[in-house]
Amino acid sequence: MCGIIGCVSDANVVDVLADGLKNMEYRGYDSAGFCVYDDGTIRVCKGVGRVDEIARNLDLQSFSGKIGLAHTRWATHGGVTPENAHPHLSCNGEVAVVHNGIIENYQAIKVKLEAKGHIFRSTTDTEVIPHLIEEKLKAGRNYRDAVLDAVKELKGSYAFIVLFRDLCDRLYGVRKDAPLIIGLSERGNFLASDALSFLKYTNKAIFLENLEVAEVRRDGYTIWNFKGEEVQHSISTLEWESMVLSKREFTHFTLKEIHEQRETITLAFRQDQEDLDRFCLALQGAERIYIIGAGTSYHAGLVAKHLFLNVAKLPVEAILASEFEEYATLLDEGTLLLAISQSGETADVLSAVSVAKKRGVPVLSIVNMLSSSLARESEQTLYLKCGPEVGVAATKTFTAQLAVIYSVVARLSNLSIDLKQIAEAVEEVFGVERQMAYLAQALSTSKDCYFIGRGVNYPIALEGALKLKELAYVHAEGLAAGELKHGTLALISEGVPVIAINPSDKTYHDTLSNVAEIKARGGRVIGLSDVENSLYDYHVKIPSVEKLFYPLVEVIPLQMFAYYSALERGQNPDYPRNLAKSVTVK
Ligand code: AGP
Repeated sequence: MCGIIGCVSDANVVDVLADGLKNMEYRGYDSAGFCVYDDGTIRVCKGVGRVDEIARNLDLQSFSGKIGLAHTRWATHGGVTPENAHPHLSCNGEVAVVHNGIIENYQAIKVKLEAKGHIFRSTTDTEVIPHLIEEKLKAGRNYRDAVLDAVKELKGSYAFIVLFRDLCDRLYGVRKDAPLIIGLSERGNFLASDALSFLKYTNKAIFLENLEVAEVRRDGYTIWNFKGEEVQHSISTLEWESMVLSKREFTHFTLKEIHEQRETITLAFRQDQEDLDRFCLALQGAERIYIIGAGTSYHAGLVAKHLFLNVAKLPVEAILASEFEEYATLLDEGTLLLAISQSGETADVLSAVSVAKKRGVPVLSIVNMLSSSLARESEQTLYLKCGPEVGVAATKTFTAQLAVIYSVVARLSNLSIDLKQIAEAVEEVFGVERQMAYLAQALSTSKDCYFIGRGVNYPIALEGALKLKELAYVHAEGLAAGELKHGTLALISEGVPVIAINPSDKTYHDTLSNVAEIKARGGRVIGLSDVENSLYDYHVKIPSVEKLFYPLVEVIPLQMFAYYSALERGQNPDYPRNLAKSVTVK
């Protein structure tokens, strides 16, 4: 859950690295670091904090070099300290490494290396890599083989990039269970965790496969598998070049992405009909379908579960990806796994997929990131087509996931999609933005907030609560409205806010009864509904749509509420504490 980038060029790479790192800060932002080859030595600049702060405080502009590495960190092994920030260097300063992932056996390797006299300066797992490579060089291996030999000793899931002080025209990158992409441009070449980091300079990319090592030079590259055999990959042209990686007129990426839903929902509905047909055929052929996902993607999975069961009449269960292994007992050839993920790199999801594949279960996926690990592990993938999402909180990708799910369900049933009505309703719902900002202010001192909904609206209650927790750090719970009286009602007292997601579908009256129970205990109810009711202390009017499509227009006001609550409470919604967008550790 870190972002790594390396660049070899015929010009100074410092700004290119800083730019690239900023576009990958969503992967982690507790510390960052750079190194460049400069006049016979590797110069390092690293510290705790955001990329801009470090660059400013440590005078990155005084650095200059035509080859370098950079890293943005989300700590796993070792605290958030300047020493633990990457790059890490070997004892003699000959090998520099930036790394994303986990080296599981680093303690054993460290003990062996210390016995040979290596001195470690950090408490990270990463630092064993440069020391190990230095050992291999000392043993007479050439640069490439030193990397390949080191890799044989490393256990875990990782991608890393190596810069050798005495070989200042090339970088080496290694990929094992974590993404690594080569970018090819006229002025130089890249290795990075995410193509977003170099998209400003090139849209030509090569996606390394698992267990591969790449040598990237100023004017070319070579790729080998871990056995040292050369392999060839085609060059992809990324379609995201036109997607501007800026906040445009918005103060935060999160707000920009909330607003982009005006277009992205429609784009996600426009799936290629042949791809959709093939996808649906596979679903229909399954005796049992498991839907997996994490966080927001799991919530999309719960909406899918409701629609698959009740509309498409498919036998389906939704399971949290991180819990999947516990429930994998019934996997057989009749089973199908449908994995939902924005990044396609979430470790819990990939691990569930691997469990399923080992049992011969076919895997389908719904993914945003092209050529992600999940897409490559899947037999078929439907893409969200909503462009890069930079904000750590999933917003436009959630509604795009819903749009893809609706498209699948419509293809499998008589559900009809009125795209014009949906687009108009989405546009209309943006009319509540000021109301949501007002509510965020009115509730800015509340310590807790509850969200309730029934049926297909229940996952939206979960999603509303998740958004408020991660962006505004408010204790929030999403509940099936009927469950409130089975315990949580004890927490409702004078003034406690409850957001009731209560459209005029078949759940309306039952949810209204739950609202009455809350009111009887002094709770302050915000009714999110297309119809007004006197039980609500405050009514947020959502547009009327066909009943099963309410989730699309319910979630947008809740995203706004979380966003404005973060601002009211002095938090930066783009970079919530302790979190990272792509969770590549289990
Ligand atoms: C959403 O706002 C969260 N940041 C998080 O729950 C996210 O949805 C989860 O980590 C899954 O990520 P994925 O969709 O990339 O697999």
